[in-house]
Amino acid sequence: MKALEIKGLKKSFRSNFLIRRYDILKGIDLDVEPGEIYGFLGPNGAGKTTTIKCVLGLLRADAGEVSVAGQPAASVEARRRIGFLPENPFFYDYLSAREYLRFATSLFAIPQAEADGRIAALIHRVGLSGHEDLKLRKYSKGMIQRLGLAQAMINDPELLILDEPFSGLDPVGRKDLRTLIFSLREQGKTIFFSSHILQDMELMVDRVGIILGGTIRRQGRLSEMVERSTQYYEVVCDRIAPRELAQIQGDFASRDGHFILTLPSEGDVNLVVESIIHNGGRIVAVTPVKMTLEDIFFSEMAGGAPPAPTSRSGETGGGAR
Ligand SMILES: Nc1ncnc2c1ncn2[C@@H]1O[C@H](COP(=O)(O)OP(=O)(O)OP(=O)(O)O)[C@@H](O)[C@H]1O
Ligand SMILES: [Mg+2]
Repeated sequence: MKALEIKGLKKSFRSNFLIRRYDILKGIDLDVEPGEIYGFLGPNGAGKTTTIKCVLGLLRADAGEVSVAGQPAASVEARRRIGFLPENPFFYDYLSAREYLRFATSLFAIPQAEADGRIAALIHRVGLSGHEDLKLRKYSKGMIQRLGLAQAMINDPELLILDEPFSGLDPVGRKDLRTLIFSLREQGKTIFFSSHILQDMELMVDRVGIILGGTIRRQGRLSEMVERSTQYYEVVCDRIAPRELAQIQGDFASRDGHFILTLPSEGDVNLVVESIIHNGGRIVAVTPVKMTLEDIFFSEMAGGAPPAPTSRSGETGGGAR
């Protein structure tokens, strides 16, 4: 059973005094497996928040089905399983974190005796220990984000939906958040998070869905997406005269005393390597250069055409990407 399943989700908005309709979601299909970290990737305005709002029932979809662990998303059983961190969490400035979380536990009707222990554990977990009685107006953006996560976890949900959780965090905050999300996965939770920060996705997601123009343009296991897509091979060599190298392979670059050849296929690599060795040269590295998530994302944005091979200076000999 899927932790989250969205089928044919459509949503349009009216604007210009109700004259025009804008189709924002044009039939979103995606599914999230239990226990995985799923990255919902798309540029600004792609419809990530709109999708999430439809899942949570904050917006009424025009068409489509959403289910959480097999239950219709609108049902109480489904809602109970979800924790949600909004894009720009807003909390009352004059409450402390402890007071705010007490309020949150009351919304879930968690008994007082249990609530205090749960709040203390969550405050510790998100790294806010020592700041729990500080008024929230004194909190930094990162601390507010942590509190938002504590709030999202208050009902011990199976599925956490985080809308742009990394936005506004500094590198330390990002790393802490990644660690926290990994620990949640270890605990068996499912995490669905949206972002336009490719780097954060690449470092942590099991699967990714790329939303563009109101549809999911690609969905899959990140390792497979990146693995399958070797763009080109880079052969680095030295101890060979440029004139001899030019006869083996006309097009090459020079960097840090080495020569770099960019080859489109594995077959070419074998031939070129043999010829270089035959001519007394030395092979320093052979690197299959894979597409990064960033390449995949930008190629989707450009209409699905594979990006042109470009040599990545400074990465020679660094192993396969
Ligand atoms: N209530 C609304 N009424 C009219 N248009 C809306 C409404 N909500 C969203 N939109 C439009 O829908 C599109 C998608 O917005 P959405 O907030 O879902 O994008 P997003 O992918 O979350 O972007 P971001 O990365 O900036 O958060 C935008 O063009 C936005 O202007
Ligand atoms: Mg958004």
